[in-house]
Amino acid sequence: MKKTILVTGGTGYIGSHTAVELISRKFSVKIIDNLSNSSVDTVNTIRRITGVRPHFTKLDLCDAKALAGWFRRNRDVIAVIHFAALKSVGESEKRPLDYYRNNILSTVNLLHELNVNHISSLVFSSSCTVYGEPDSNPVTEKSSIKPAASVYGNTKRICEEIIRDAAKEFPLRAISLRYFNPVGAHSSGLIGDSPVNPSDNLLPAITQTASGKRNILNVYGNDYPTPDGTPVRDYIHVVDLAKAHVAAIERLIGKKNNTSFEVFNLGTGRGYSVFEIINAFSDCTGVRLNFKITSRRPGDMTSIWADTAQANKELGWEAGLTLDDMVRTAWAWEQNHNKKSAAE
Ligand code: UD1
Repeated sequence: MKKTILVTGGTGYIGSHTAVELISRKFSVKIIDNLSNSSVDTVNTIRRITGVRPHFTKLDLCDAKALAGWFRRNRDVIAVIHFAALKSVGESEKRPLDYYRNNILSTVNLLHELNVNHISSLVFSSSCTVYGEPDSNPVTEKSSIKPAASVYGNTKRICEEIIRDAAKEFPLRAISLRYFNPVGAHSSGLIGDSPVNPSDNLLPAITQTASGKRNILNVYGNDYPTPDGTPVRDYIHVVDLAKAHVAAIERLIGKKNNTSFEVFNLGTGRGYSVFEIINAFSDCTGVRLNFKITSRRPGDMTSIWADTAQANKELGWEAGLTLDDMVRTAWAWEQNHNKKSAAE
């Protein structure tokens, strides 16, 4: 019998890649998503890639009654990966209550259902944003948690605390995965970062400038105290990230966790500057980018990259894909996606 994993937010960017990896590891996948920032077409695309169509339900996790009904009808779920959340930093500053209500209420509702339905394994989608501007790099899981620089970041920090506390109420075993900067797309070119709402992340901005959707790439400041003046981040390929979720699920259902709430950094352990990413993109694709230096983006940090030793050791996982893989697949996805949009 296949083991069934519920993936909330499974039609989104990281959720869809994780669904593909779970299916390829012979898990049965059930997706819940409210489609607020993704498309139902992704369910069929997952089938195109894997040959298996995941079970899909359009549902908002904030709707406690509907969620309870879903769990009553789906008794086979043995573990949950919780991606569903609003994730735009800029938007979270303009609509804080929407962000607090959505991200926190959905997590509380989900935890309640795990308790009621005796499901003990939960993987939570967190972010390196909980570390704020680190005192030193690389950051380990023991690095201090700073006051969040954004409402979005605060929702991640608060949800981690709620999950940690929930383990006092029922036998929960949870893993929080703190992502650094997820980029790239599936090698099929069929799924990638395609939010319904506009994104302000670097890789989509680069590929959209290269494809002509944007006139120019704004480089948000070149006066940071870094080797070339632009901020440094730990970019990680989304397929590597997806595989880490499978490793986390296997750890939990194999009861190999050391404590009821574990945290792992997911990055490559290497930092790249904005200019290094731009150059890697041009070197890999042969496309020169039209960019200009603008003022700093409020809330941006100078440098952050991960110490991944814990994830390497405990999850038996390591990021294997290179910066070249990241920019090449992001560009292939942008080109495919444009073709698809033009044909519609
Ligand atoms: C952002 C979020 C973070 C989230 C992550 C998801 C902020 C402050 N943080 O991280 O919480 O988890 O995305 O991937 O938004 N840049 C440009 N021009 C652009 C876009 C970005 O120069 O058009 C620069 C930024 O200044 C930054 C780097 O590229 O130095 C990376 O930016 P981005 O991809 O938005 O990621 P983060 O800001 O690190």
